[in-house]
Amino acid sequence: MMHFISVQDLKVQEILAIFRRTDTLKKKPIQPLLKDKNLAMVFQKPSTRTRVSFEVAMNHLGGHALYLNSHDLQMGRGETIADTARVLSRYADAIMARVFSHKDVVELAARSGVPVINGLSDLLHPCQALSDMYTIHEKLGRLRGLKLAYTGNARNNVTHSLCHACSKLGMNMSVTCPPKHAPDKAVLRDSMANAKATRTVLEVTPDPKKALKGADIVYTDTWFSMGNRPSRIEENALKPYQLNSSLLRHAKRGALVMHCLPAHRGQEITDDVMDGPQSIVWDQAGNRLHVQKGLLSLLV
Ligand code: CP
Ligand code: NVA
Repeated sequence: MMHFISVQDLKVQEILAIFRRTDTLKKKPIQPLLKDKNLAMVFQKPSTRTRVSFEVAMNHLGGHALYLNSHDLQMGRGETIADTARVLSRYADAIMARVFSHKDVVELAARSGVPVINGLSDLLHPCQALSDMYTIHEKLGRLRGLKLAYTGNARNNVTHSLCHACSKLGMNMSVTCPPKHAPDKAVLRDSMANAKATRTVLEVTPDPKKALKGADIVYTDTWFSMGNRPSRIEENALKPYQLNSSLLRHAKRGALVMHCLPAHRGQEITDDVMDGPQSIVWDQAGNRLHVQKGLLSLLV
């Protein structure tokens, strides 16, 4: 594995190796595995978790992270992604990038001489899904055979990476959304092929009750990606998919509630569910740090 652009690019063995390394680093957080290494972090969009977890991860591993806001780079004045990649990879040992357009992170990886990590694009959020799989395994002791239900706007970077991850790792996944907000076709095609190989079910249904039936985990994310504003019509279409206590009752008793955060409380998720006893969102966010370390220490 040279870059980490998509969960779909990883072999199951590579994912499990990241989890094993994460376990070790979670038990003993400070280890100089990346002493004097530098991670350049390019952000075209805001971030709390991704930025801070990568930066602290590099510090814990004995290295250093540089926060580079794209507006402050010459990229903000039109220097191309390809030229930026060629230069940054001569200074830093790895690049992490959060971009608007997925093709930008692909281009960055193609032109970079050092590993590139996708810190979120419009299409995928692989670091989030990797960390979420780790969290589910930590909480429930296994992945294979579990069912994750995703409710909300499923044309979403997190949903897409979860489709890749669940289907690769042997988890059943039921996505429920209005037909207009269904996952990307290519992501579904790849994930369906994974699901066939792992003999799991990946389904998309407009019926939230059906999707949540028997679910061990119920997941939601913002209805609209950072910077996008939904129309009133779109918001109304998404309302039946809000993760609230009456919908949650359709999942297994005690099903775990997950959200990648930031949450829009009262929109895709209600306060009582987010702050309720089934919610694991804070441990989920916390694990971003540990999994980032597992990933960085194997990739860089
Ligand atoms: N979940 C996540 O990636 O959060 P940030 O946008 O705060 O990085
Ligand atoms: N789907 C969300 C994820 C935020 C971490 C977004 O793109 O804004």
